[in-house]
Amino acid sequence: MFTLNSLSLPVLGAPMAGGPSTPELAAAVSNAGGLGFLAGGYKSPDAVRGQITRTRELTRRPFGLNIFVPDHANTYADTSQEKQAGKLAASLAYREALAAAAQEGPAGTVIPEPGFPDPQDDDCWQAKLELVLRERVPAVSFTFGLPGPDVFAELAGQDICTVVTVTNEQEARAAAAAGAHLLCVQGPEAGGHRGTLDSGKTPGEASLTDLLDEVRQACPLPLVAAGGISTRHDAAAALAAGASAVQVGTLLLLANEAGTSAVHRTALRDAVLGRRDPRTSVTRAFSGRPARGLTNGFMRAHPDAPDAYPFLNQITGPLRAAAAASGNPEAVSLWAGTRYRHAAEEPAQASVRRLFPG
Ligand SMILES: Cc1cc2nc3c(=O)[nH]c(=O)nc-3n(C[C@H](O)[C@H](O)[C@H](O)COP(=O)(O)O)c2cc1C
Repeated sequence: MFTLNSLSLPVLGAPMAGGPSTPELAAAVSNAGGLGFLAGGYKSPDAVRGQITRTRELTRRPFGLNIFVPDHANTYADTSQEKQAGKLAASLAYREALAAAAQEGPAGTVIPEPGFPDPQDDDCWQAKLELVLRERVPAVSFTFGLPGPDVFAELAGQDICTVVTVTNEQEARAAAAAGAHLLCVQGPEAGGHRGTLDSGKTPGEASLTDLLDEVRQACPLPLVAAGGISTRHDAAAALAAGASAVQVGTLLLLANEAGTSAVHRTALRDAVLGRRDPRTSVTRAFSGRPARGLTNGFMRAHPDAPDAYPFLNQITGPLRAAAAASGNPEAVSLWAGTRYRHAAEEPAQASVRRLFPG
């Protein structure tokens, strides 16, 4: 089974759904001596299988795959009928507000109809689990929820290393008790979605080093530190605080091998050059779950978006797609962590090697 000890660089390339993660990026990180990751979220099982095959063509080293845990498979959160019905109702009200705003838009602008929430869509959870078992992907990470102990046992039985993203000590204890092999401890500076196991909870603001310290005392599993890691000082501080490795996402957003969209890349460059609002903030506006990105118009317009993942993600899909196609950064999610200034347009290998000089 894969263990962190087998890495020559203690670094994981974060899974980044929505485009940035590619087989080329995952393989580049693995070939540099770290552990590259594919992002299974939002893709069909066939597309994920294709990416696994391509990654294996590009590297002989281990790599990982990330899967989003849907509510019905999440043992940690309130998944009652009542809670689900509340989420659906809140998302329909959100949809109505978006549809009305689209009609009131300035003359000449075409804003597409928002999509509809789809309670049946669980991101092909079961098919992706079966795929991972069949393909024997060396490492699998779970985000947004905690599967039951049976899932961890089945994966362990196939020598597959399991990782769970956690954001506080309670989540860490629960993931360890369920049978995870590694914990990815995500701090508040992280780009993209916060990995809170219960979407209704507001993610904590404790610093990554404080969080690592807390989790290390609470459970004996090896820890991977994530969130704002962008320099050798950050990496050294995380390892000194008890992490066995670090995970970097934002640092790789501009890498040559990343599939980051043109509108996203341009917004990151513009933010560094002072051509747009340089701040990042945490929002539920795009997906219904808290996520950090460059602050834009859509985030500002919907400060009170409800806790209703994945329904809001489904609803805003057509709006995001249209904005991306027309190069409009104000209505797409520009996920990025607080330290995006360190992302460089270079081979990913150079970015991860710089974290561990010498
Ligand atoms: C564009 C983007 C997409 C992301 N998508 C995922 C994802 O699909 N699955 C996941 O577990 N984490 C995802 N994350 C979060 C990362 O796994 C990781 O926690 C984060 O990037 C670490 O913080 P950093 O961005 O400051 O390095 C994403 C992050 C970004 C920036």
